[in-house]
Amino acid sequence: MAPNVGTDTDAGAVPPPLTFDPKHLTAPPDGDAPPRLLLNTADWQAAAKTLLPRQVYDYYAAGADDLVSLSANASALAAHALRPRVLVPVGSVSAATSLLGVAAAAPIVVAPTAMHRMAHADGELAVARAAAAVGVPMTLSTMATSSLEAVAAAPAGGVGTRWFQLYVFGGAARATAEKLVRRAQAAGYTALVLTVDAPVYGNRETDVRNSFALPAGLRLANFVGDAPPAGSGSGGAAGEPVPPVAVADMDKASAGSSGLASFGDTNLDPNLSFDCIAWLRSISTLPVLVKGCLRGDDAAAAMAAGAAGIVVSNHGARQLDGTVAPITALREVVAAVKGPDRPAGSPPGLVLVDGAIRRGTDVLKAVALGADAVMVGRPVLWGLAVAGEEGVARVLGGLVEEVRRAMMLAGVPAWDRIPRGLVVLPDGRVADRVPVDPSAWQEEAGGDVG
Ligand code: FNR
Repeated sequence: MAPNVGTDTDAGAVPPPLTFDPKHLTAPPDGDAPPRLLLNTADWQAAAKTLLPRQVYDYYAAGADDLVSLSANASALAAHALRPRVLVPVGSVSAATSLLGVAAAAPIVVAPTAMHRMAHADGELAVARAAAAVGVPMTLSTMATSSLEAVAAAPAGGVGTRWFQLYVFGGAARATAEKLVRRAQAAGYTALVLTVDAPVYGNRETDVRNSFALPAGLRLANFVGDAPPAGSGSGGAAGEPVPPVAVADMDKASAGSSGLASFGDTNLDPNLSFDCIAWLRSISTLPVLVKGCLRGDDAAAAMAAGAAGIVVSNHGARQLDGTVAPITALREVVAAVKGPDRPAGSPPGLVLVDGAIRRGTDVLKAVALGADAVMVGRPVLWGLAVAGEEGVARVLGGLVEEVRRAMMLAGVPAWDRIPRGLVVLPDGRVADRVPVDPSAWQEEAGGDVG
């Protein structure tokens, strides 16, 4: 059985590297500060902060409660050390991989993040075009400000891999979720990403202090039948309103409340259970990735219920504060989903991890610990805010380049040739990729590694 990470044979469909117009190499002017080169995701964040309205920047940047997990997600990654191999021929390095059978330029997926049009007028459409140009999948949020149909049509010729993130709503609004699933499948999305860490929204106090609300003129386009006149090519779902989610709350925050929190309280289903996975599979043929697991037992239960994979995530530290960092939880999920701990007879699933992935070395650590790919959230928003489609392409393309460089420096010519013992865990133990099955392990252990 081959590992889920791809081989060079997948690389053919990946677009060539992008070139960029140097006009966006520097941050916008900030007082008398000299122009700053935008060299990494932190630079893009700093530039976005100078451009975005405070309410919007804070909504994108913040986490829940005391922001313990927000910093812990990053510090846990930093506490994992790489143990590079030298004198490995890496001249023809390839970061390409394959996710759910589709080629990707690198094991990077755009995470679902809400309301992109607050960052840039082109919103989710710009992100879809940039992700397609760079060659990585994009996950569209249920809470998008562009309809899923418009996003599907955004990249030229409709190329690009798109996954759809789903909030399953409660009560009568369950019908909305079903409709979204059917629309996503009809529009060519190739996976459902079911978010399971949000029975209620996290306590994001910054949004309450800022009385966060969806800015005037924007809407949660997936809920309102975002249809253009026939033939305009830019709209939504055949003109049909999608009841009965209470979207009105979103733009009605008053002092001391957040519009998003009100929306969540009204619509999210606090009684969601593992049955939901079988329900989704009964209404769609799309693979279901369960996003928001931080434990092996939950991951195993999700797989037993029919999931195709797991996204190890704490929602970018915006839900429960003080969780184990996703990179720390990764190994037990990998073991449950595709390692020796998985239930006999169940096929290995896909494992993704997110939370503070900001550098190519973060991607390398995650894959070396058994992830098939990472998701990247906020950096995409910073690129979008600063330079629209080109900004997102620069952020994603820059990360892909960083991954390639990190692979070369660590002695990793390709994802199926990761040296053993590439990562030292925070407790000092040397860690390996958990094998998919014994024969894959033999392949990994043979040849140039050992
Ligand atoms: C999110 N995230 C998220 N997740 C989800 O399942 N549905 C959603 O609508 C959103 N919306 C959202 C908005 C914003 C502004 C952020 C920052 C995050 C969580 C997201 O998918 C992902 O798990 C994290 O963003 C990953 O962490 P980093 O890369 O942002 O640190």
